[in-house]
This record gives sequence, C-alpha cells and structure tokens, in this order.
Amino acid sequence: MSDLTDSAEWKALKKHFKAISHVHMRDLFNEDSERFEQFSVSLNDILLDYSKNRITNETVKLLMDLMRITNVEKHRARMFAGENVNCTESRPALHVALRNRSNKPVMVNGEDVMPKINAVLSKMRDFSERVRSGRLRGYDGRRIRSIVNIGIGGSDLGPHVVCDAMKPFAQRGLKVHFVSNADATHLVETLKQLEPETTLFIISSKTFTTQETLLNAHSARKWFVDLVGDEKAVAKHFVAVSTNHEATSKFGINPDNVFEFWDWVGGRYSLWSAIGLPIALYIGMDHFEDLLLGAHEMDQHFESAPLEQNMPVILAMLGIWYNNFFDAQSHAVMPYSQYMERLPAYLQQLDMESNGKTIDRQNQRVNYLTGPIIWGQSGTNGQHAFFQLLHQGTKPVPADFLIPALSQNPLGLHHRVLFSNCLAQTKALMLGKKYTEALEEMQGAGSSSEEIDGAIEHKVFEGNKPTNTIIFERLDPKTLGSIMALYEHKVFVQGVVWNINSFDQWGVEYGKVLAGEIQQDLAQPGNVDDHDSSTNGLINYRKGVYFQDVDRRKLD
Ligand code: F6P
Repeated sequence: MSDLTDSAEWKALKKHFKAISHVHMRDLFNEDSERFEQFSVSLNDILLDYSKNRITNETVKLLMDLMRITNVEKHRARMFAGENVNCTESRPALHVALRNRSNKPVMVNGEDVMPKINAVLSKMRDFSERVRSGRLRGYDGRRIRSIVNIGIGGSDLGPHVVCDAMKPFAQRGLKVHFVSNADATHLVETLKQLEPETTLFIISSKTFTTQETLLNAHSARKWFVDLVGDEKAVAKHFVAVSTNHEATSKFGINPDNVFEFWDWVGGRYSLWSAIGLPIALYIGMDHFEDLLLGAHEMDQHFESAPLEQNMPVILAMLGIWYNNFFDAQSHAVMPYSQYMERLPAYLQQLDMESNGKTIDRQNQRVNYLTGPIIWGQSGTNGQHAFFQLLHQGTKPVPADFLIPALSQNPLGLHHRVLFSNCLAQTKALMLGKKYTEALEEMQGAGSSSEEIDGAIEHKVFEGNKPTNTIIFERLDPKTLGSIMALYEHKVFVQGVVWNINSFDQWGVEYGKVLAGEIQQDLAQPGNVDDHDSSTNGLINYRKGVYFQDVDRRKLD
C-alpha cells in the first residue's frame, strides 16, 4: 500500500464511492433545484458547469480532503516560485513566468528571469511586425506570404492549435503551415503550395536535436536552395526557436534570427515562449499578448481562488474521482467549435506525456491508476462516430464539452443547431431514458407489442454519464489562453495528487534510441537476425522490397 491509498482520506472516498455508485444524477437534479448554481464556477467569461457529475457535497468535501493531504497548495507555490518541481531533471517548470503579465520578479537560481522573457517578447514583436507590415521581405524583395513551422510535439502542437483556433484574427494574405511528421509526405505536400521567395521557415526545437525536425529542416533548406540557387538567401528565409545556440548556428542560422528560450520551459508547456512565434506572426503580437494575459489570469485564479472554487483544482479532482474510484480508463474532450478541432491532439501531449507515469517521486511504483487516455473530436462530428459508445457502451467515459455562446461565423441557424446539439448530448448522457419513457414513446408511435418487445431494451439509456461543460462568450485569444492554462494546471494538480513528476518524459527517449539502431540496420542489404523475430521479420521485409532493384532505392 502506498501512503496515498493507505490514507484515511482515500479509504473514505472508497467507502463513499460504494454509497454513491447507485445514485442517479437524475435524482440528484430532482432533489436540488440549485444544483447548477452550486456546482458551477466562473472566471471572466468562462463558466465551468460541473453539476452533471456523479457527486454530492460530500463527494467534493472528501475529494478536497484527499487533495489537502497531498499538499497541492505547497507544490503549487513551489512551481510558481521557480523551485525544481521537475525532480528527475532538477529543473523548475516555469511556463507561468512566460505569461507573467504582472512582471513581478521570478527568480531562477538567484536571477530574475523576467527581463530575459521580456527581451524575447520584444524581439518577437519587432520581428513579427516587420514581417506582417512588409518591412522585412524575402531575398528578392517580395513580401512573406507563408510561414512554415517545422517542429514536433510541444514545438508543433501548441502553436498549431492556437493558429487554427485564431484564424479569424489572422492577417489576410498570410498563411501558416505546420510540418511535423518524419513522413516526407507532410513536407512535400506543404511545399507544393509554396514559393520559396515568399516563404519564411521557423525551425522550432527546444533541443535542436530532434530527428524528425532536423530531417524536415534540412530537406526544406535543400528545397529552398535548389530553387533559389543562392545559399546566402537562406538567412532571409530561415529562423530558429531553440535553447541550443550551438546547434542552430551549426545549421547555418544567423544568431540574430534565433529566438531563445530556456531549459526551465518544458516542451509541452512552451507555446507561451518564442515557440509561439508562428502565432505572433499569424495573428499579431497584440493578440499573442492577449493569449498570454488570458493564461496569466487563469494562473492568478489557480494561485488564489479557494480550492473549492478553483477551476483547475475542480477539474483535477473530478478526473481523479473517475480515474481512481470508477476505474475510468479514458477522458474525452469535445470542443463544439471547428476552430478548436485540434484541442484534443494538443491535450493528448499535455496530459499523457505529463501524467503517463508509473514511478512516483520517491522512486516507487504506484499502486493506483495515473493519467487517463485523452481523446476526442469536435462536435458534432463525434456524435455521428463514437458517441454511441458513450451513451450505451460498457465503459465509463467522463467527458468535457467546450462551447462558445456566440459564433465567430454567425450564419443562419448554424450556431443554434451546434449549441443545442452540445447541450442535448450532455443532457442525454446525464438523464438517460427510463424503460417507461421508452415504452410510452414506442406506444405513442403506434408500435406493435412484438415491435416493442423486440426493441425496447435497446431504446433504454442508463444515463448517469458524467460531463463537464465549459462555456465562454466567444473564442478569442484571451479566452483561449485561459482555457489552455486551465488544462495545464488541471494536469499539474493531478500529478501532485498521484505523486508523480509531470514534467519529464523518459518513455519517449527510449523509442528514439531504438529508432537510431534500426535505421542503421536498414541501410545495408542482407537480412538481420539480432532483434526479436518480429522486428527481424519486419526489417527484412522492408529490405527485401527496397533492395530488389535500383529503381526502388530511388524512391527513398
Ligand atoms: O516527444 C518528446 C519530446 O521531447 C517532447 O516533449 C517535445 O515537445 C518534443 O519531443 C520536441 O522536442 P524539441 O522541441 O526539443 O524538438
């Protein structure tokens, strides 16, 4: 038994779970007309309605008790103070400093990092304004029309979700592309749309050693030089965002064109740093700063709101409730906003790379479930794909629904339809449909008794499926910043409760080493036999096909 599962607070929740597991939310709503008021909380225009959860006041109290014994408040203070919360890499995790709009000093090893952060923000402003206004042009004097961000993981997902979501705020005539996959198709299909003279490449990599990114960067550079025929033109079309200056200059990027950040910024928490450069270019620095402000306001809320009214804390504790007591394996995220389509992909890295851990901070194996599988899709598309399983499947899937009250594209009845679908889903998931209701419905439709007998059981919905709804006025940079910070802090709180380090990712590193070895094996003809038989068989299949004749080798 660990300290956590052995604690009186954990045991009290286990006991409470037994008592509440047969209680239906429908009855909880019937008993309390103020349930919505009681279980909702807001910050600025963002309202979190968590009333459609399998909770009572007692549940919330017990969950907060559990959280208090894990010292969430102390850990939170350590993170904001720049202490080494990333214990396996002995580093702070200071994404909150990047958006510290109050400018209060933040100390790392005795140094206030705010002047450095502000200097990079000024450099981003200067650069993005010059590009957007056309003062900074390509090598032949033409305006930059396309930005291509080459990066992967945190150096792709954050800026990508924001640029997609902030399309209405983009400058007309300026496009942004994201290339991440080692599959050349990603780069090749992107380059087909571009002219080198009007394209600016941003090579985004914290380490500047990530294989996929360097591969794409070198291929993009070759494409550029081959078409332009002048190496010197590279300086006007390639910039880098990295902590590794040696590697960026080795790649041939002028130090003036390198936007720096620091090792105390985790990859998946880096969109607030110079990794956000494509955002600043695409929507302008004022809007990028609004995004930072929104995140900062969520930081302040997280730091100061009482735990019971603290949005990230509430989301975190509800997640723990389902993950650890209902044994829910996954958590779904459904943005009812086409602009937020990439949010689930972004949250997958944020949550699963942070809390997909088995070893706790005292180097012991945990004996409870940690981070859930995050998945989802934009509404209403998901309704016509996987929602059936949410309604009538055998697995519990708690879910977050996100929706703006107003559309950026008011067109006819579209938003009303979208909005009503979102609420219809959360209502149906909560309420379900009783046998008597299904019967009444079938009888009303004139079904025969055979028809009723044959189908009625299938038309009953258990309901009692938990959802959170996050509603906000309109999707703008500030609101988006707050929502993304909300999820960052949710993940942080869960990591604290599970006693794991949410800021490292050792699992990812192992795959990189093995890929290097297999790559060597693929270079020469002749079968290999020094891996397991499955890996040998697959390597030898590819070799057999590839080395068959010279023409095939040209395909690589
Ligand atoms: O996927 C592992 C990872 O290390 C992520 O944490 C990171 O965001 C990504 O690779 C990219 O790393 P880099 O920015 O150093 O290229």
